[in-house]
Amino acid sequence: MAERIPVPAAREGTHCTAAQYEELYRRSIDDPDGFWAEEARRLDWFTAPTRIADWSYDPVAIRWFEDGVLNLCHNCVDRHLPERADDVAILWEGDEPGNVRTLTFRELHAEVVRMANALKQLGASKGDRITLYFPMIPEAAIAMLACARIGAIHSVVFGGFSPEALHGRIVDCASRFVITCDGGMRGGKLVPLKANVDAALAEGTPVEAVIVVCHLGNEIAFNPATDHWYHEMADLDGDCPCASMNAEDPLFILYTSGSTGKPKGVLHTTGGYAVWAATTFHYVFDYRPGELFWCTADVGWVTGHTYVVYGPLANGATTLMFEGVPNYPDSSRFWDMVERHKVDIFYTAPTAIRALMREGDGPVKKHDRSSIRLLGTVGEPINPEAWLWYWRVVGDERCPIVDTWWQTETAGIMITTLPGAHDMKPGSAGLPFFGVVPELVDADGQVLEGAASGNLCLARSWPGQMRTVYGDHERFAQTYFSAYRGKYFTGDGCRRDEDGYYWITGRVDDVLNVAGHRLGTAEVESALVSHPKVAEAAVVGYPHDIKGQGIYAYVTLVVDAEPDAALEQELRQHVRTEISPIATPDIIHFTPALPKTRSGKIMRRILRKIAENEFGSLGDTSTLADPSLVDALIEGRRNR
Ligand code: WTA
Repeated sequence: MAERIPVPAAREGTHCTAAQYEELYRRSIDDPDGFWAEEARRLDWFTAPTRIADWSYDPVAIRWFEDGVLNLCHNCVDRHLPERADDVAILWEGDEPGNVRTLTFRELHAEVVRMANALKQLGASKGDRITLYFPMIPEAAIAMLACARIGAIHSVVFGGFSPEALHGRIVDCASRFVITCDGGMRGGKLVPLKANVDAALAEGTPVEAVIVVCHLGNEIAFNPATDHWYHEMADLDGDCPCASMNAEDPLFILYTSGSTGKPKGVLHTTGGYAVWAATTFHYVFDYRPGELFWCTADVGWVTGHTYVVYGPLANGATTLMFEGVPNYPDSSRFWDMVERHKVDIFYTAPTAIRALMREGDGPVKKHDRSSIRLLGTVGEPINPEAWLWYWRVVGDERCPIVDTWWQTETAGIMITTLPGAHDMKPGSAGLPFFGVVPELVDADGQVLEGAASGNLCLARSWPGQMRTVYGDHERFAQTYFSAYRGKYFTGDGCRRDEDGYYWITGRVDDVLNVAGHRLGTAEVESALVSHPKVAEAAVVGYPHDIKGQGIYAYVTLVVDAEPDAALEQELRQHVRTEISPIATPDIIHFTPALPKTRSGKIMRRILRKIAENEFGSLGDTSTLADPSLVDALIEGRRNR
């Protein structure tokens, strides 16, 4: 029986008690149109929607609020000016402790207008795709909001991605504009963003103009044909009205890894995304005016989009943006910042919690954390041990923890407990958010009732659902709606217990979750085989104490290549430059061959088991072309 921890007494005036949850959830299912028409009123609409839900999973066509007109930048910035112009919208801290900058809503408005005017001056307009490549600085949020303001579609590329990966993402959506900065700092190290953009553009792209924000003042190459120093652009201060956007006009593209092929451009549209971001933020974090909200995610990931930028700002919240890393200058950095800024709500990833837990309680306890009211986690399953440490040591058994399950595809939180409503079970995300209908399905597509384990599907659409894969609607239908007809398949395995709580067990497809970062095994494999000495590669995940999953690469070499330590190092470096340091294999296992069926299919199940050190449960190996290979692979694993 799993541990059940009663939720600490709700604050007075909590946005949702247990009884309210029951009532609201039932209403969201029985009368979705009525429910979401009401929730949509959290936003300012230029024309309020009258048509609410209109979707089909077969064929796949998803629309929400389709006759509504709004602008998300207006909702995040302009509409707060009458009441809270002088409240802090963004509180930023740089890589060096104490390097702090604040932007009030008034200042944020002025900055966003300037950036929007800069985009217009260069010829950008509604519907253009604009690639953003930034460290965690306010200009990243400003650029996102500026795109939303003029109706351009932003595609934020994580600043840790390589020029190669950036190039692929620019080309896929045919961006004509890039906004970046000279460089960023992470843990005392310079990240040469502008140089990476230059390298990406050198490979050929449709980019016509690059806006370069000066952040560090580091030396950069400047190409007068394309580059524009942002601070040297003139005439940017005039008014720039918010474009009227139909609810179904695209808001952004965000590339994410799937089980096959190159990363796909997840497309979100304006109205449904805005409603999902605003509504989930309101209920899950039980936010009150004046509180400081800190989500430690990077804006290069969906968590940064929804819970660093849009969700908080749409609610008029103060959002803390942090440029650095949890262990610089030392492993008390998070708690030092919590103490100095008096953070009310703290939202981070299990991998960070596990890494900090390893440093012991000291770095946490030496800082005052009494300002924290609520803790949250996101991005991967949290093991009960890490959950309990977070609860006992960070939150002093005083702060509720929300373990929020969701995906890039869902826009925002889908399964969680609510802090004023639900008991918590360490390791379980909890219960469905309003409008969410999880189903567990077995391999034959049978829907399982009651306590059960299966593949997690969602039976109904929700406003924040992705609308398509940019430029490839067929891939969208194929990826998410073909495994189980009439349902959205999440790619996750899951258990539901006797209380209806959901326990996510991790991906059941070929997607890895490494330190909360999503990576396709196929991407890492194709990076490896692009090295001239590699003949074939098969990549699987294996349990890793800190990262949740580590990357295990089986590699066969071309004749004449030596499987030595130098080559191992070279291959690691190769993957870093092809994709990103986050994709670096933890273990490279050279093997003369990969286990294949007689028809030539790589038997990943066996490779996974061997990487997991589960030699006893390899299952049937009789269909292998060369069964003796398995013993050699096991031997190789034992030696690592
Ligand atoms: C995993 C991140 C367990 C899951 C928001 C999902 C989680 C993938 C949780 C999406 C959680 C996310 N518990 N697993 N609370 N949150 N995941 O697109 O496997 O980067 O499918 O979105 O992360 O990763 P993505």
